[in-house]
Amino acid sequence: MMSADRHRLVVRVKNAIKSAGTEQEVLRTAVQLIHDFSDGYSWTGIYMMRGDYLEVGPYVGAPTPHTRIGLNQGICGAAASLKQTVIVDDVTADPRFLACSLTTRSEIVVPLMHNGRCLGEIDIDSDRPAFFTADDKDMLEVVVAVIVERLNQIGQVGGD
Ligand code: SME
Repeated sequence: MMSADRHRLVVRVKNAIKSAGTEQEVLRTAVQLIHDFSDGYSWTGIYMMRGDYLEVGPYVGAPTPHTRIGLNQGICGAAASLKQTVIVDDVTADPRFLACSLTTRSEIVVPLMHNGRCLGEIDIDSDRPAFFTADDKDMLEVVVAVIVERLNQIGQVGGD
């Protein structure tokens, strides 16, 4: 069972993006609400698949040097290739990690899946080690489903 505050975030995102009519508006609105969910989230952003690359979209946090990431690069590339959520408890011990900030200690990346295709992903960093739990994963996987549903409604999923 999802906790009440996590469930509230899902509902909040769902309601907020109902009136968003463009991909950027959907993503920007969702990212801000997700970021505000926890003090432990230090960088919250969305990467979208553009051709063979992940391109950074709306984010809250410090500017990242990693604006374009290949599928074989970083934790972001790993999650998009695996088409699965990846949680890294200690980014300093993970050779795949591409650093956005030197203070980042843990990270979660949740793919936006539609009909077996990865459309993009939510990437969240924390300055606290092992910050992301199965509860974050469960909540964010529902949030991405809500985002993909809205993108589909406004004809922004492409490819089908
Ligand atoms: N840490 C990510 C790169 C994105 S920045 O953190 C915003 C990775 O390893 O793929």
